[in-house]
Amino acid sequence: QSHEKFLHCLSLHSNDSSSISKVIFSRNNNSYSSILESSIQNLRYSTIATPKPLVIVTPLHASHIQATISCSKRHGLQIRTRSGGHDFEGLSYVSEVPFVLVDLVNLRSIDVDVENRIAWVQSGAILGELYYRIAEKSRTLAFPAGTCYTIGVGGHFSGGGYGLLFRKYGLAADNIIDAHLIDANGRILDRKSMGEDVFWAIRGGGGGSFGIVLDWKLKLVSVPANVTVFTVTKTLEQNATQLIHRWQYVAHKLPNDIFLLVAISRVNSGQEGKKTIQASFAALFLGGVDKLISLMEKRFPELGLVKQDCIEMSWIQSLLYFGQLPTEEILLDRAAVNKTFFKVKSDYVKEPIPKAVFEEVWPKFYEEEGNYGIILLIPYGGKMDEIPETETPFPHRAGNMYKIIYNIGLAGEENLEFQKYLSWIRRFYHHMTPYVSKSPREAYVNYRDLDIGVNNKGKTSYAQASIWGFKYFKSNFNKLVHVKTLIDPDNFFKHEQSIPPLSSW
Ligand code: FDA
Repeated sequence: QSHEKFLHCLSLHSNDSSSISKVIFSRNNNSYSSILESSIQNLRYSTIATPKPLVIVTPLHASHIQATISCSKRHGLQIRTRSGGHDFEGLSYVSEVPFVLVDLVNLRSIDVDVENRIAWVQSGAILGELYYRIAEKSRTLAFPAGTCYTIGVGGHFSGGGYGLLFRKYGLAADNIIDAHLIDANGRILDRKSMGEDVFWAIRGGGGGSFGIVLDWKLKLVSVPANVTVFTVTKTLEQNATQLIHRWQYVAHKLPNDIFLLVAISRVNSGQEGKKTIQASFAALFLGGVDKLISLMEKRFPELGLVKQDCIEMSWIQSLLYFGQLPTEEILLDRAAVNKTFFKVKSDYVKEPIPKAVFEEVWPKFYEEEGNYGIILLIPYGGKMDEIPETETPFPHRAGNMYKIIYNIGLAGEENLEFQKYLSWIRRFYHHMTPYVSKSPREAYVNYRDLDIGVNNKGKTSYAQASIWGFKYFKSNFNKLVHVKTLIDPDNFFKHEQSIPPLSSW
């Protein structure tokens, strides 16, 4: 019933009622399910039991968002905003209370100004579209954001956003110079009218807390016409443990021009039934092969990098290389990924982990049959060390050697089997406790993990939110609460890990 009233309200409130009717999808609409499922990444939140929105709105104009906010408020419905739908815990399209899904899929225009090295991008665009549109105009301009091209701009920038260029240029959020935010009162605010504190909060404080960001103004960055990539793979029999151990001392201290990650997984060793651990050392270097080889000979000779391992290409092609994508045009295709059931957790490492600990961890990969766990080690340092912890809400700056990503994914139709992998990844994470950041045990907000704490149902409280809030934001959490109190004191925009206002509700 509230949904009937809500729909009636929308038709009354919209400035252009004719066009809004075309972008409202109730459950009985034929397109409802395909729109809902279109950008769901995590199949764990696409089951029959998953709570679904009463109505989906896919706005064409800011006025459609304003009308949706006003009518949702009036009729006691919550809003979930979705840009790319990549939230690990499905917070952009799942809620236990009656809600409206605002899906920004139609708001994805991109305007690249090469001369002034800026771009405006709407939140519903995916990163692939942004990269493609930049490369279309210039092969030596880029934007430092995530590697997975189907990620939505809206959620990604709201939580920080890092990728292969972040040791050189920082996070996506560090390179945003203006934005338009629609607040809980339906006002459209730019940097000047929202004020510096709100502008600070929307660049890293996590999506879904402060309003709906319509679009972002980006400072583009320079990349050479030719960059170099490589992937060198070693198994335990080829000294992988020693190399990973050594990598810890090297990777975060390398020049800003190189990003060298490690991906660790279980593989079959070739002999019948024999398993081993494989470490892939993959890198992007902002320069040519010769310079890279001489750098690696000096700084990480143990890896044994040779010219034959390296390929020179343009920056946009390096995205295809790392994503194993066939053509640049695929970057425009938001539907082209294989969806899985997955769970991700994150950690920060400040002291090298002893070699014996790695050796102790390897057998864990063999515990579950068919285990598709991948552990990624992401080097920090470079530009990330230069940006003060309070510059944006993202606090994981100097002092971090690397980030660990624990990732378990499973393809297929059935969710049942996934439970054992969930418990596996939680055991793995628990095992790592002594070797990672403490008090708080830090985590990356864009790697949303509801295991680390959630808001109370109904009334939120500062004390409850502090449990997860300090892990994501350290002491920046207090400033985020202050900003939330300013911009949304009634806590209209809320979810399981949204920032609570002080009044607290
Ligand atoms: P989605 O639409 O699910 O939104 C995420 C959150 O932001 C939700 O709370 C949502 O309500 C809110 N939100 C969305 N749009 C908003 C808007 N316009 N205004 C306000 N709030 C909004 N991260 C990274 O930094 N580097 C990486 O390389 C990767 N790689 C990666 C690969 C894969 C396969 C996945 C699934 C995810 C990543 N991520 C990542 C994590 C990613 O950055 C994170 O999930 C982002 O929040 C996704 O943004 P979307 O817009 O796609 O998510």
